[in-house]
Amino acid sequence: MMIVYDSNLQQFSLQVGKASYVMALHKGSYLTTRYFGLRLHGDFLASPFVEVPRSFSPNPMADDERFSLDTLPQEYPVFGNSDFRLPALEVEFEDGSRLVDLHYDQHRIYEGKPKLHVLPSTYVEEEKQAQTLEIDLFDAVSQLRVTLRYTVFAGHSILVRSVLLHHEGDAPIRVSRVMSMAMDLSLPDYQMLHLPGAHAREREMTWQPIGKTMHSIESRRGASSHQQNPFLALASPTITEEDGEVYSVALAYSGNFQLVVDTDQYDVTRVMVGINPFDFRYLLSPGEKFETPEVTVGFHAHGLGEMSRDYHRFFRKHLLSGRYRDQLRPILINNWEATYFQFDEQVLLQLADEAKEVGIELFVLDDGWFGQRDDDRTSLGDWVVDTRKLPHGLGAFGEQIRQKNMRFGLWFEPEMISPDSALYRTHPDWCLFVPGRNQSVSRHQYVLDFSSKEVCDAIIEQLTKILSQAPIDYVKWDMNRHLTEVGSVSLAANRQKEVSHRYMLGVYRVMDTLTKRFPFILFESCSGGGGRFDPGLLAYMPQVWTSDNTDAIARLSIQFGTSLIYPAIAMGSHVSAVPNHQVGRVTTLQTRGYVAMMGNLGYELDLRRLGEEDRATIRQQIAFYQQWRDVICFGDLYRLKHPSKQQDAAFLYVSEKRDRAIVTYIQIMARANPALKRLRLQGLATNETYSVTLHGTEQTGVFALSPLTLVMNGDELMQYGLAIPYLHGDFLGCVWTIEKAEIAP
Ligand code: GLA
Repeated sequence: MMIVYDSNLQQFSLQVGKASYVMALHKGSYLTTRYFGLRLHGDFLASPFVEVPRSFSPNPMADDERFSLDTLPQEYPVFGNSDFRLPALEVEFEDGSRLVDLHYDQHRIYEGKPKLHVLPSTYVEEEKQAQTLEIDLFDAVSQLRVTLRYTVFAGHSILVRSVLLHHEGDAPIRVSRVMSMAMDLSLPDYQMLHLPGAHAREREMTWQPIGKTMHSIESRRGASSHQQNPFLALASPTITEEDGEVYSVALAYSGNFQLVVDTDQYDVTRVMVGINPFDFRYLLSPGEKFETPEVTVGFHAHGLGEMSRDYHRFFRKHLLSGRYRDQLRPILINNWEATYFQFDEQVLLQLADEAKEVGIELFVLDDGWFGQRDDDRTSLGDWVVDTRKLPHGLGAFGEQIRQKNMRFGLWFEPEMISPDSALYRTHPDWCLFVPGRNQSVSRHQYVLDFSSKEVCDAIIEQLTKILSQAPIDYVKWDMNRHLTEVGSVSLAANRQKEVSHRYMLGVYRVMDTLTKRFPFILFESCSGGGGRFDPGLLAYMPQVWTSDNTDAIARLSIQFGTSLIYPAIAMGSHVSAVPNHQVGRVTTLQTRGYVAMMGNLGYELDLRRLGEEDRATIRQQIAFYQQWRDVICFGDLYRLKHPSKQQDAAFLYVSEKRDRAIVTYIQIMARANPALKRLRLQGLATNETYSVTLHGTEQTGVFALSPLTLVMNGDELMQYGLAIPYLHGDFLGCVWTIEKAEIAP
């Protein structure tokens, strides 16, 4: 049993892989967080919860001056009954009162895991893969039932939580904050790691002390955003990749979110994660239920590396869905940076021929194929092929690509509408706007009102038509602006603060419908690159365009940050032209290839302009990646050197069986007369013999300091390490491949 309850102790104990999560009922009905840490083999705590009288912490029970909710570590704190810290739930009743008093009512433990109804879910394929605990807390006055859900998964150190409100009373309730989880933990001197960024600069690993203050990491943009990611880790002071304790949370939601870390006067840190209460208020009618997004919660005893591997395994098994979950992804060519909007059929077919010739497997036609879209000022919403560019239509074009024995993919931006479009002229009220107010454009476009069922249904039909007409194997689903003037003419005045959330529900419904209707299509999500790289979208689309920044050096930190919880198989990464279009940097084709191979390899440059030498390099890269992509996509990641100090970066993938591994090393800035360094590996079998091959020495400036092929023991590779070649020049790199050696008997 992974979940047990002791009715004498009134404790719940959840075995979360290598960790234990213990909750207790205090005074028989207050649900408290008691322990979250390394696995307790006795499951329960013998130690009682210690309370002492505290001045200025009021007492709900007049005869017990030690008891205050202000000092109680709680699983779902509320407002107004003596706890002055931030609550997980805020509501307002018809009479203007805001108090709820949540007490334990009942609980259920069962096999399996229910899927959420309207939100992205983690899932199991067989009931025995998980156990779920539901604890009902109840407010007797308002008859509001709050069900806290906890699911633990066999073999995984990740707990999934969510909350279900069920209004059993008879007057509407206004809910202005309903977090997916809360927990109160003692985390002395811990530091916080999060992933702020910007467009083309996503997910920069950023540390700060927790201190004695409140931190709110959030998005108010209607998307999870480039600016923050719905992930947070709290790590012990001496944290490294290999050592130290880390707590992690990640929200499966792609809209406005909030992650709160709030440390109180007695050094207890409240962690809360959920939909951002900012510009949110949901009107809950009698009998209605409201479900929150799911949040993954982890405790990892062995550093950031273990945290990442715990998430990668979990997301690959219980979040990514559909037939591509376990399939290697095709190596693609995307015409965006090759042609932008300026292309015709002949240009595309030439590009496809070149791509086929070097071994590329999928041809992706990006923005500009529909309406009259010669730039980004027009036609979003008019998903009809532009016959000036593709005179024989999309179906015929797709067939031509297929005849080359390549798969065919297409770009869409279904949530958007150009003011200059037939759709907007017919349905000006189909976008988000507030009547009588100015309407902001961003990239010359408006946002469709996905909170409206009518709009979502129309988009489903539009896309279904195209996806059924042409031979489409892949879709890139883009979203190139954030939400402003958030108002919907489809909703009543007292529901306008539901728009951002209902927008997300609409997006999820459309994605769910289309991905189920077209299970053969590989969907890659995108939002100006990685503006919606979150667990919510990953539940529908198993691949994300990581960033519009395709520069190999800038990509190092973007991909390192992304790899904190997102697996390589979810990351799209492309080789592009130099000077790089985003930063102007010139790097070698080999380096660009090595960095792009850290995820799903693709190419995004005009192959027609390359000389034979570069084509030969690309041919080799593709053949090499085809040999090793299973290790990268399904293996364990070890981040050996962080690019943060601008010197170098190294990462290693080890196959599950530990019989194959691949190491990439990139030097950022060269130094004169450098020290000779070694790279110590991890994750290999100590007593195994491996054959190690160094690649990349054919490049000018790369000098091996040891034989190109060596037979080495796993412990030598991990303890002594690999000699890093001498790299004479900025932005040079090399790769080692490692395979279990066949030793003659
Ligand atoms: C976004 C994407 C790019 C490209 C353009 C097309 O910026 O991130 O990859 O598809 O849109 O307009």
